[in-house]
Amino acid sequence: LLNNIQIAIDGPAGAGKSTIAKKIAESLDITYIDTGAMYRALTYKAIMNNISMYNHEEIIQLAANTDININKGELYVDAKYVKDEIRSQGVNDHVSYIAQIPGVRKILVKLQKKIALGNSVVMDGRDIGTFVLPDADIKIFLTASIEERAYRRYSELLKQGENIDLKDIEKSIVERDRIDTEREYAPLVKAEDAIIIDTTGLNIDEVVERIINLIMKKIKKDSNTLLNN
Ligand code: CDP
Ligand code: CDP
Repeated sequence: LLNNIQIAIDGPAGAGKSTIAKKIAESLDITYIDTGAMYRALTYKAIMNNISMYNHEEIIQLAANTDININKGELYVDAKYVKDEIRSQGVNDHVSYIAQIPGVRKILVKLQKKIALGNSVVMDGRDIGTFVLPDADIKIFLTASIEERAYRRYSELLKQGENIDLKDIEKSIVERDRIDTEREYAPLVKAEDAIIIDTTGLNIDEVVERIINLIMKKIKKDSNTLLNN
């Protein structure tokens, strides 16, 4: 199964998806794909090109004309390595509007499916268990209280030297979650067969250990089924 295992991790902002997904990918030596980074990169490019997020036609054109690649977990847009620029507050404030556009999602989901095809992957986002990898071997829905998610982001920004008001961070997360959950096409929702892990009060290693245990159990169960048939 490890030859071709697909792990889907979804959940709201600040639940720990990317941190946990990256660690799981490292420990299993498989590919990590951060789908949020793709929506962020497109949003960043739209801002740089002065394209309004309400101009759906132009945004879809932009998505169609953008070359997105993932190499060793790192994101390249139009052959340029991108990192911190897609995590700015400006991108945070616009990304959920751009991610609402069905034409944009169709383009990015197609790319995500293509990367996952025939590969072992851990993919994190909002619609991975429901839309991108509906047949994933393991689906996890990560959550945590809004207070804890906001505080995590606050500490992260503080470490980077940005002192943003905790209440403002909380407001921005609540707003993004609202848009992501209420959008018509591929909203943020737990897949029926996803396992919920509430990470409030849990540290990163505890969450990683729980998920690795679930993966090991699943692999054992699948190989027993194979042996018995
Ligand atoms: O890291 P954080 O949870 O703040 O966000 P992210 O995973 O980088 O995703 C940024 C935004 O992209 C989300 O708020 C969604 O609007 C959008 N997104 C999405 O619609 N579908 C995905 N599979 C991943 C992200
Ligand atoms: O990707 P997502 O927005 O779901 O969350 P993240 O960017 O992985 O995590 C947000 C912050 O919370 C990071 O600074 C993590 O180190 C931290 N975190 C934590 O303190 N405890 C956890 N159990 C998970 C994440």
